Amino acid sequence: MPTYRIAVIAGDGAGQEIIPEAKCVIAALEPKYGFHLDYADYDWGSDYYFRHGRMCPEDFLDRLRQADAILLGAVGHPKIADNVTLNGLLLPIRRTFDQFANVRPAKLYEGVDSPLALRKGEKIDMVVVRENTEGEYAQIGGFLYQDQPDEVAIQTSVFTRRGVERVVRFAFELARKRNGKKRVTSVTKSNAQGFSLVLWDRVFAKVAEEFPDISTESLLVDAAAMNFIRRPESFDVVVASNLFGDILSDISAIIVGSMGLAPSANVDPTRRFPSMFEPVHGSAPDIAFKGIVNPLATFLCVGQMLEHLGRGDAAADLETAIGKVLSAKKVRTPDLGGSSTTSQVTEAVIAAL
Ligand code: NAI
Ligand code: MG
Repeated sequence: MPTYRIAVIAGDGAGQEIIPEAKCVIAALEPKYGFHLDYADYDWGSDYYFRHGRMCPEDFLDRLRQADAILLGAVGHPKIADNVTLNGLLLPIRRTFDQFANVRPAKLYEGVDSPLALRKGEKIDMVVVRENTEGEYAQIGGFLYQDQPDEVAIQTSVFTRRGVERVVRFAFELARKRNGKKRVTSVTKSNAQGFSLVLWDRVFAKVAEEFPDISTESLLVDAAAMNFIRRPESFDVVVASNLFGDILSDISAIIVGSMGLAPSANVDPTRRFPSMFEPVHGSAPDIAFKGIVNPLATFLCVGQMLEHLGRGDAAADLETAIGKVLSAKKVRTPDLGGSSTTSQVTEAVIAAL
C-alpha cells in the first residue's frame, strides 16, 4: 500500500484540538482510497518553549527533512512574543525547505454567509499566492542604541529576480490548472517602494508574456484591499509579496465566512523538500480548549496535502464532503453561527464521505 511519511506538529491552542480531528478524517479516507499516512508526531511549540527555552530541538529541520509532508496546527501563545514563536519554528521551516509559494484558497461555500452583501448569484473563488521565503520577512536588520532614547531599528526587505520570477510563474501555472477565470492579479506598491516592487512589476510583465491564455491585472495593495471587498468575485489567482499576501489573505479568508474555513499550503513546487500544510488561522487562544474550534480549515489543508501527495481523488472527495456539511447548514461551529462542537463537525464530515 502506498505509504506517506507525515511529520505532524499540532503546536499550540486550537492546533492541539484540530490535529487529532484531522487524523480521524484521514483514517476514514485511508481504507477508501488505499493509502496510509505514517505519522511522526512532534510536541514542539510553546509548551516545549516553557520547558526548554526554545520552540523545538536544535535538529528539528533534519528530522522534518525525512518527511513527505508536514501537517501543522498552529503556534502562538499569549505569554510568548509572536516573533519568537514565528522565528523559532515556522519561518525557518518555510525558508530552509524553500517553500516559496504559500497557497491560500478562499472559496465561498454554499450555505455559508459572507459578511459582504454580495449581489445575487455572485461567487467568491480565489487563491492568494503569497511569496514565502524573502520580501519583507527576510530577517535582515538590527537595533542600534537599544533601549536608549535614540534607538534606531532597521529592517530590510529582500527581493530577488529569481524569487519573484518563480512565485509569479507558479501563480500563472496555477491559474492555468484551475477551473476559474484564468486571470492573475499582481499586487504591489511600486509607487512608494520604488525599487523592490518595481522589480516585481517588471518580472510580472515579463513572465505574463509566457501565458497569453491568462489575463492579467496589476493593483496597488491599498486598491487591492478595497477591491477584495468591492468586487471579490472578479479575482481568480492573486500573487503578492510575503507581507502583502499575508494581509490580503486574512481579508480573503474572512469574506468567505470564517478564519475557520481558510486553509494554506507552504509549497516547494520543485519537491526537493517537504511542503507544509497549515490553516491560515493561529492558535485562537480566545476560544481554544472549549471544544468549539472550527476544524474545517485544517480538513481543507489535509485535502491540499493529499492533492500534493498525488491523492487528488481522496482530496476531491473530502472537499465534496465538507461542501455537503456546509450546505446542509445543520452541523457547524459558533464561528459560522452554529452551536456544534469540533468533534460533531468531524463526525458530520466523516458521515458525508
Ligand atoms: P487567530 O487566527 O488565532 O484568531 C483570530 C480570530 O479568529 C479569533 O477571534 C479566533 O477565535 C478566530 N478563529 C481562528 N481560528 C478559528 C477556528 N478554527 N475556528 C473558529 N474561530 C477561529 O489569530 P490571533 O488571535 O491574532 O493570534 C493568536 C496567536 O496565534 C498569536 O500568538 C499569533 O502569533 C498566532 N498565529 C499563528 C499562526 C500560525 O501558526 N500560522 C498564524 C496566525 C497567528
Ligand atoms: Mg497571517
